[in-house]
Amino acid sequence: MSLQSWFPTFIYDAPLQKKTSQKFLSALLEDSYKVRENDRNGQKWSRENYPNGFTSYSSMNRLHKTGSSFWELEKKLSPHLETFAKYLEWDLGKGRKLTMTDCWVNIMRQYAVHPLHLHPLSVISGTFYVKIPKACSSLRFEDPRLSKLMGAPPKKSLCRPENKQQVLYPVEAGKVILFESWLRHEVRSNPSQEERVSISFNYHWL
Ligand code: NI
Repeated sequence: MSLQSWFPTFIYDAPLQKKTSQKFLSALLEDSYKVRENDRNGQKWSRENYPNGFTSYSSMNRLHKTGSSFWELEKKLSPHLETFAKYLEWDLGKGRKLTMTDCWVNIMRQYAVHPLHLHPLSVISGTFYVKIPKACSSLRFEDPRLSKLMGAPPKKSLCRPENKQQVLYPVEAGKVILFESWLRHEVRSNPSQEERVSISFNYHWL
C-alpha cells in the first residue's frame, strides 16, 4: 500500500532580519503615514472600496521606486525571495529573475476588513508587517481547491495540518509572509482601536 501527499501549497514566514531595528520600523511607519496623507487618489479609492481603511494599492503602488524606506525594504526582502524560490525549486533560467513590480501600503483602522482575494498576474506576493496592535487579525489563507470539492464531506475538526481547509497566520511587527500569488487570503475585521499597518508587494518573473 502506498499513500503519499502531492501538490503541496507553501507559505513562507520569517522575521525580516535577525533583529529588525525599531528605527527601520519607525521610518516605514512614518513613510506609510506620509503616503496616506499625500495620496489623494488612494484616499478616494479607499473611501469607496475599503471602509475604515486606507490602501495605496490602486494609486501609489510602486513605492519601492520612491527611494524612501520602501526601497530599503525591497533590498531586505531579496534574500527571503531567493530562499522561497529555492524551496519551491523554481528554475528561473538565465537572465530572468523575480522582480518586485508593486509595493503599497495598507492601514486598517478598527473594523476595517480586507476581503478574500488573490493577486492576479504575479507569481509571488507577500506582506511585511510594520505596526500590529495586540490581538490583531491574522492573515487567513484558504485551500485553493475548495471550489473543486463540490459534494465532498467536510474535514474532521482535528484533522492533520495538511488536511486543513484554512490556516491562520498570526502576524507581528517585523514579520514577512510570502506565498504564491494564486493563493486566496484575507484579513478579517480589525478588532483593535489601534491601526494595523502593513506593506504588501508583488513579484513577477521578468
Ligand atoms: Ni493580498
